[in-house]
Amino acid sequence: MRGLVQEGWGGAGEMRLVEVGVPVAGVGEVLVRVGAAGVNFADVMQGRGTYDGGPRPPYLAGFEAAGEVVAVGDGVSGWAVGDHVIGTGAGAFAEYVVMGADGVVAVPAGWRDEEALGLVLNWATALASLRWLGRLSAGETVLVHAAAGGVGQAAVRIAKYYGATVIGTASASKHEVVRRLGADQVIDYRTADLVAEVLRLTDGRGVDVVLESVGGETFRKSVEVARRVTGKVIVIGVAGGASSISNWELNFKHPVQVIGNHLTTLIRHAPEMFAEVMAELGKLIEVGVYPPGTPTVYDLADGPKVLAELEAGTTIGKLALKP
Ligand SMILES: NC(=O)c1ccc[n+]([C@@H]2O[C@H](COP(=O)([O-])OP(=O)(O)OC[C@H]3O[C@@H](n4cnc5c(N)ncnc54)[C@H](OP(=O)(O)O)[C@@H]3O)[C@@H](O)[C@H]2O)c1
Repeated sequence: MRGLVQEGWGGAGEMRLVEVGVPVAGVGEVLVRVGAAGVNFADVMQGRGTYDGGPRPPYLAGFEAAGEVVAVGDGVSGWAVGDHVIGTGAGAFAEYVVMGADGVVAVPAGWRDEEALGLVLNWATALASLRWLGRLSAGETVLVHAAAGGVGQAAVRIAKYYGATVIGTASASKHEVVRRLGADQVIDYRTADLVAEVLRLTDGRGVDVVLESVGGETFRKSVEVARRVTGKVIVIGVAGGASSISNWELNFKHPVQVIGNHLTTLIRHAPEMFAEVMAELGKLIEVGVYPPGTPTVYDLADGPKVLAELEAGTTIGKLALKP
């Protein structure tokens, strides 16, 4: 089969399309013919060696895919050949990928494979962060960073559905997309004075929740604009690099709640919460708040180009590769 191999930690420039053997489903696993693979910022980080616990090169890249089950390993119940599933498994940028049967979910009825991409990663991360960890409720204000991105777009829709006022951040060329999703305000944090602008928009109170995926200098600004005492900064990403805040600052200067969230860890250590989040996502699909995804789909061979653009911050929304 064809697959994209990451040959070194030099990013997209060290990713090549190669011929490799089709993997075999082991105990508790399913073999999936990839209909479409999701491209995530974590793929960029893995290709740079900055993703904690990520694979060492050379490795078959990609980890999110939706497709048809073509073989079922021993000990698997609940899935059969012909089912369409969405989930994660190492080496998803290929024609076939193996996934743990416990971790996959059904592609929603009537949806094509590519339309289900993001269900487990983008939407579950956004929903768990905003509602379960951030306790965002009607009448509150949320700051969603990278609001035009894969996770960001889901977060904007979710926050509006639960009655929050949404301030999004995005590069200027993406503002219209964010507004169309329902965001009340959009800020270009690369050029605007983010802190002054958010405080102005909230009459000096700050926001109730920040979905913080940018990191670097922006992380400190996110802490500054969180409402004192009750405001929550949910840290889900470090696209712009690591940053820190001291216990002294949290005590005296910025008494706010900083909460980390990593979906894989949440699934492992808080499976009940994950089950609740997935059940709620089912409801959001039913009521149309979560419509079929509309990723920009590229040929598998274009993977290196797509990853380079994602790394450069020039992409909009969910991205997919079709083998
Ligand atoms: N914790 C978790 O479990 C979890 C799960 C999924 C994703 N994530 C994180 O959520 C974030 C979004 O992921 P995604 O896959 O949906 O990507 P994405 O948001 O579609 O793409 C990243 C976007 O972030 C913005 N950005 C800001 N600073 C950047 C920088 N230094 N380099 C590149 N982009 C930058 C860019 O948009 P603008 O130019 O418009 O700002 C860019 O388009 C990532 O940080 C990812 O690691 C975390």
